Amino acid sequence: MKIGIFYATYSGGTQMASEFLAEKLKSLGHEVTLKQISEISFDETLTYDLRVFTSPSWDNESEEGQPHIDFISFIQKSAGKNFSGKPCAVFGLGDSTYAHFCGAVDIVTDYIKKNGGKIIINPLKIDGYLFNTEANNKLLSDWASKLKV
Ligand SMILES: Cc1cc2nc3c(=O)[nH]c(=O)nc-3n(C[C@H](O)[C@H](O)[C@H](O)COP(=O)(O)O)c2cc1C
Repeated sequence: MKIGIFYATYSGGTQMASEFLAEKLKSLGHEVTLKQISEISFDETLTYDLRVFTSPSWDNESEEGQPHIDFISFIQKSAGKNFSGKPCAVFGLGDSTYAHFCGAVDIVTDYIKKNGGKIIINPLKIDGYLFNTEANNKLLSDWASKLKV
């Protein structure tokens, strides 16, 4: 299937994880497009069979567990738009020493559900990606194998 992976990153981890996921999905026979969320419009996300959204969790205006600022902009710009039942998946990088571990995953997932998207798999929260890349890539790989619409 045609899969779009839309990501944002501050320190490179989410980009690395997204690139790994893209390669894994290609090896499973999918056609994969990887783009930064800042480079894509809401309507363009609708052109894929499956949309995967991924954001690190970060501070925003002193509030922990928030999505990347580009995700916040995307959500604001997309006000009033609806996914119309289209399949979506969410994963995110975080650090479990923070009070709101992977809060961005919950926020992005809620945003999708409230705006008519269908979450097709349990969102994946990855702890300390860059500190244990091999084990975390295994989690991503297993998650990728379950992506079906
Ligand atoms: C300033 C700052 C705030 C962070 N806030 C959170 C947080 O609230 N929740 C969480 O799970 N991780 C938090 N993290 C951890 C990052 O989400 C984690 O390091 C992630 O891998 C970064 O992804 P990136 O390399 O794609 O930017 C924070 C990290 C920094 C540096």
